[in-house]
Amino acid sequence: MNLLITGCCGHIGSYVTENIHKIKKIKKTILVDNIKSNRFCSLFNLKKKSNLKFYLRDIDKLNSLNDFKKIDYVIHCASMTNAEKSFGKEKQMYKNNIDCLKTVIKFCKKSKAKLFHLSSTSVYGKQANLVDENCEKKYLKPQSPYADIKLIEERMLIKERKNLRYNTFRFGTISGISKGIRFHTAVNKFCLNAAINENIYVYKTALNQYRPYLSLKDAFKTFKFCIEKDFFKNDVYNILSGNFTVNQILKRIRKHKKNIKVKLVKTEIMNQLSYHVSKKKIQREGLNLNYDIENDIKDTLKLLGNI
Ligand SMILES: NC(=O)c1ccc[n+]([C@@H]2O[C@H](COP(=O)([O-])OP(=O)(O)OC[C@H]3O[C@@H](n4cnc5c(N)ncnc54)[C@H](O)[C@@H]3O)[C@@H](O)[C@H]2O)c1
Repeated sequence: MNLLITGCCGHIGSYVTENIHKIKKIKKTILVDNIKSNRFCSLFNLKKKSNLKFYLRDIDKLNSLNDFKKIDYVIHCASMTNAEKSFGKEKQMYKNNIDCLKTVIKFCKKSKAKLFHLSSTSVYGKQANLVDENCEKKYLKPQSPYADIKLIEERMLIKERKNLRYNTFRFGTISGISKGIRFHTAVNKFCLNAAINENIYVYKTALNQYRPYLSLKDAFKTFKFCIEKDFFKNDVYNILSGNFTVNQILKRIRKHKKNIKVKLVKTEIMNQLSYHVSKKKIQREGLNLNYDIENDIKDTLKLLGNI
């Protein structure tokens, strides 16, 4: 079986690329990225046995994947992704991300490839104790252009559900290290600031409020599970390792780095309201995601340990 990873140089794509040899069914992997983020380092020292081939491509062009043949699965990671920075960059972000998905849908329909579509738990913008995939529409209130685009993408796929096989996975905020690691999301940013003895800025509203997080290890476990079990249900699933407050994350950081400086700040994004996201739906399918994100914190602090 052959795999295509779009956005292979990013935080998630680079982790999947490095570990793809662990999915025995995959014999060849095509990698695509426009490298506008300049993360060439994601391509350093890749394993020969993984049988990887990289293509520098902008996939916002509808026919940009046309020449790839015999692809069985697509993990679609190509996207502009910084939610906080999406304010003021709406036009560019809508165009890029929606056009990329159009290209991928066209490709999957033509080649009959099965698609992993990565949405985000940030589509749950309203306060509720526990939100699941069947929550009332009023709880789907994206609080940033980034999250709004995710919902549009989900609807694009629902319209295509008769024409292709896919899963939409609402990923929690990623923790853990990869070659394409970014430091603008909560856990990683806090670890970076702790490591360089800088202030850790925390949104005032977020300190004691729960939000969903996903270890890269569990993200990979999810892809592996679906490919091995041929699990593609044309449906939406929350994918997370656990729900934590920022305080709980800071506590875990303090276990490995004693003196950290926390400063409370205001924010533009208001989806810091407390909510637990349920992972029961995917659990019922036999996939248990329980990786301890404290290990990710430890790994990230270790990576930065000699700065
Ligand atoms: N990281 C998270 O916390 C998180 C959480 C939930 C969902 N997601 C989703 O998972 C997916 C991957 O996220 P990530 O963290 O790896 O993102 P990332 O920003 O680290 O990587 C995205 C990659 O896509 C590439 N790209 C962007 N536009 C492209 C284009 N037009 N053509 C080709 N390549 C292009 C970029 O160069 C980059 O390497 C995204 O859809 C993101 O929204 C991520």
